[in-house]
Amino acid sequence: MTLAVPDIRPVFSGFRALYGKISTAIRDQMPKGLYARALIIIIAPMVLLQSVLTFVFLERHWETVTKRLSTATVQNISMLMALHQAYPSEADTSALVKMASETYGLRIKFIEDDELPQVRSRPFFDLLDRMLSDEITRQIGRPFWIDTVGASNFVDIRIKLGDSVMHVLARRSQTYASNSHIFLLWMLATSLVLLTVAILFLRNQIKPILRLAEAAERLGKGRPPPPDFRPRGAREVRQAAQAFIEMRDRIERHVEQRTTMLAGVSHDLRTVLTRFKLQLAMFEDAPEVEELRNDVDEMQAMLEDYMAFAKGDSGEEIVRADVGEILAEVRDQAHTAKDIRVAVGDEPLVVPLRRHAFKRAVANLVNNAIRFADHVSVSAGREDGSLVVEVEDDGPGIPEAEREHVFRPFYRLDDARNQGTGSTGLGLAIARDIARIHGGDISLGQSQLGGLKAVLKVPV
Ligand SMILES: Nc1ncnc2c1ncn2[C@@H]1O[C@H](COP(=O)(O)OP(=O)(O)OP(=O)(O)O)[C@@H](O)[C@H]1O
Ligand SMILES: [Mg+2]
Repeated sequence: MTLAVPDIRPVFSGFRALYGKISTAIRDQMPKGLYARALIIIIAPMVLLQSVLTFVFLERHWETVTKRLSTATVQNISMLMALHQAYPSEADTSALVKMASETYGLRIKFIEDDELPQVRSRPFFDLLDRMLSDEITRQIGRPFWIDTVGASNFVDIRIKLGDSVMHVLARRSQTYASNSHIFLLWMLATSLVLLTVAILFLRNQIKPILRLAEAAERLGKGRPPPPDFRPRGAREVRQAAQAFIEMRDRIERHVEQRTTMLAGVSHDLRTVLTRFKLQLAMFEDAPEVEELRNDVDEMQAMLEDYMAFAKGDSGEEIVRADVGEILAEVRDQAHTAKDIRVAVGDEPLVVPLRRHAFKRAVANLVNNAIRFADHVSVSAGREDGSLVVEVEDDGPGIPEAEREHVFRPFYRLDDARNQGTGSTGLGLAIARDIARIHGGDISLGQSQLGGLKAVLKVPV
């Protein structure tokens, strides 16, 4: 016999999907900031605690007190009733009424040949009504009528005694625990105080984290840290800030070392090259010598490129620069008869940049485009907190497989086509370096115009 085991996997995956959906929904609803989250972590348990307290404690307390008060009131009424029945004479009754009012605070009167009013529909949920009715039924066991709902401060109770009806007016406070709202008020007030204190403390705890985030963001964008940045706040936050500062120093040292080394190498090589040139100049003119001279010139241009980059741009100050102006300068300095179209939005685009470096990056892209194409279009704009500069041309473009390679230093697609143009293959490498110093990057793609589209994007 084979046992058919039901396949419960679909149930599980259903549960998992449901769980995923719910947790996504909650995550979407939750505030994203640390401050708001921390506040919720404090407020949520408080509200929960107070709700449970109010419900369990207060509800029971209220019920017990109301029951006690009702019992006592009905006991008094019961005794007054018994006294009235034992001493029904006129004089005794008036003495009883007086006593009831002075001793018990109950206003009573006995009305002969009276009937109880129509039974009212009971309020749906009225603790007092229920308690009083129960007590009267239990202790007196006669037909009765009560009105606990009226807005007045009194509760009207009528009890049928044979022919007559006993009217009792009791103060509401005598029968009912009505001061619980004071407790609630106290609870609310103390919660408010607690919350205020929590907010003040939290604010101080979270500020250092925000400052650390800001400093990290600025480092990513290649900007100096906020001037008064130092480790602050709770121990863990201070540790993180300390680690961040050490990391930043290490990065800075590293960059500086690299720059110094590059500058040194370039400088030494240039000295040798200069000697080379002098020696070449002493040779007689011959095609081989001419070629050698060209090569040396090219090498020198290369070195100058690198040196300029190595020492020049990395230390540049950040200023607020007008991007439209930069693009116009690049166009004017291209010295070409070719068609360069520059499009910047209507509003001036002023953003914090290392102006010279940035201009150089854009110029590298534009010069490439001019070299390979007849029509060039340059546009700039803001997109999701980033500055985006697009350089498009109608030249041959770069095949997709080569688009990453051309960023390598000294890498040129078509050596033959570049020979003798004075190009070193450093342009894109430098441009990307500059973009990254700004915390951004350059990507290459296919342009609508038919050629290459270079997108320079830096966060601002
Ligand atoms: N707009 C373009 N259209 C077609 N090919 C391009 C374009 N821009 C660059 N390239 C290719 O990418 C290679 C690398 O470009 P890069 O700017 O790094 O060096 P380069 O222009 O040759 O030299 P340099 O810019 O240092 O003078 C170029 O040699 C060229 O083959
Ligand atoms: Mg170039």
